[in-house]
Amino acid sequence: MAHQLKFSFDVVLAFLSPLIIIWVAYRLSAPWTWADLRGFLSLRYSKPFYGPFSLQKAYQSYAKYSRLSANEFSHKRTAYNSLSRTHKRLGHKLGYPEKLNKLQYVTDLNAVITEGIAEVARKDLQVDDIHTGPGDLGRVREALKHFIRDWSEEGARERDRIFEPILTVLSQINPEERAQKKVLVPGSGLGRLAWEISQLGFDTTANELSFFMSLAFRFLLSDEATTSKNQHHLRPYAHWFSHQRSNESLFRTVSFPDAIPRLTPNLQLAEVDFLTLSPPTRTLRNPESFWSSSGPQDLPGYDYIVTLFFIDTSLNIFATIEHIFTLLRPGGTWINLGPLLWTSGGQAKLELSLAEVINAATEIGFIFREDDICAQRAVECEYTGDLSAMMRWVYKAEFWVAAKPK
Ligand SMILES: C[S@@+](CC[C@H](N)C(=O)[O-])C[C@H]1O[C@@H](n2cnc3c(N)ncnc32)[C@H](O)[C@@H]1O
Repeated sequence: MAHQLKFSFDVVLAFLSPLIIIWVAYRLSAPWTWADLRGFLSLRYSKPFYGPFSLQKAYQSYAKYSRLSANEFSHKRTAYNSLSRTHKRLGHKLGYPEKLNKLQYVTDLNAVITEGIAEVARKDLQVDDIHTGPGDLGRVREALKHFIRDWSEEGARERDRIFEPILTVLSQINPEERAQKKVLVPGSGLGRLAWEISQLGFDTTANELSFFMSLAFRFLLSDEATTSKNQHHLRPYAHWFSHQRSNESLFRTVSFPDAIPRLTPNLQLAEVDFLTLSPPTRTLRNPESFWSSSGPQDLPGYDYIVTLFFIDTSLNIFATIEHIFTLLRPGGTWINLGPLLWTSGGQAKLELSLAEVINAATEIGFIFREDDICAQRAVECEYTGDLSAMMRWVYKAEFWVAAKPK
């Protein structure tokens, strides 16, 4: 009997050991800190929770912005100090050491915003104050530049070029019908386009996966953090010394927001991966007419999906287009404007040309509209460009309007 028990215990152990080894290896595959180790030992550690766009990662990156930037100052200082005595004297005459001090000073001023964002995360989302792994300074800076693109007067020129074709199509809808129309904006970044669409009267959902973006948007949505126009100030270009005509231009201050957004019944925020969204159900406008006159407009799904600088962030563009198709109701419309700058590092499973994207969308079932304001065309535009810099990166982004058949 004892012999049999020992035999079955050995079999179970032999079966479980490889699984335990795989599990431990998986959990050790992330870069580790003391906090990670504590989390691991308390069995609280889960990879998605600390993923690259997660709330936790974004929160700690905003909270640590000053500290993360300090590495950069010391690198710049070390580089300057390595100059010969003659060149240091020349640098001194130009005021280069003061320029490095100024960088530190304006970064501390920018930290007022990043700390404000971290505070919103603590208050609104009760974020855990555990700090794990290194923060991501690059993504914080990218989001800060979006304050200028989306919410400053300086960004209006960039916005007008890309919003105009989209808002013109949506403006064709009778204002009385707009509240019944559901619009999804996937990859909504800091939310300006979604907000503009909601201001036209549409029932709008801004969808954003990255908490680096949505925490910054929440900072503006918060009636504690943001109360008046142009109350916040940033020096968004200070950390990139290239292509600057002067130090005044490098360290210049941009104020925001030029308008104050708030979440309302017709502007919601979905902070999830777009690919996990389901078609929304709808309340019938006239329930009595359900059997007699319900049409495609009463079926579940969005009436419009608007993608702006979004589809090329897909790891699998086929899955993205298919999901746009699934989320639209029959007769619904996809409006797109953006380039094809496929996700870097060869992460995308497919990197299609424009012609291939259009063919794929047609195969999936979309019908491209060619009538006047809906006609497919290139739109020259920029993305978080610095107006005063000596360099401009101009996209010839593609605009199209495509319908899901009824
Ligand atoms: C290039 S940015 C454009 C942001 C905004 N549309 C604009 O034009 O300013 C792409 C955005 O899509 C978001 N994104 C990428 N994949 C996503 C997904 N699967 N679900 C939701 N958002 C996603 C990114 O986090 C990023 O904010």
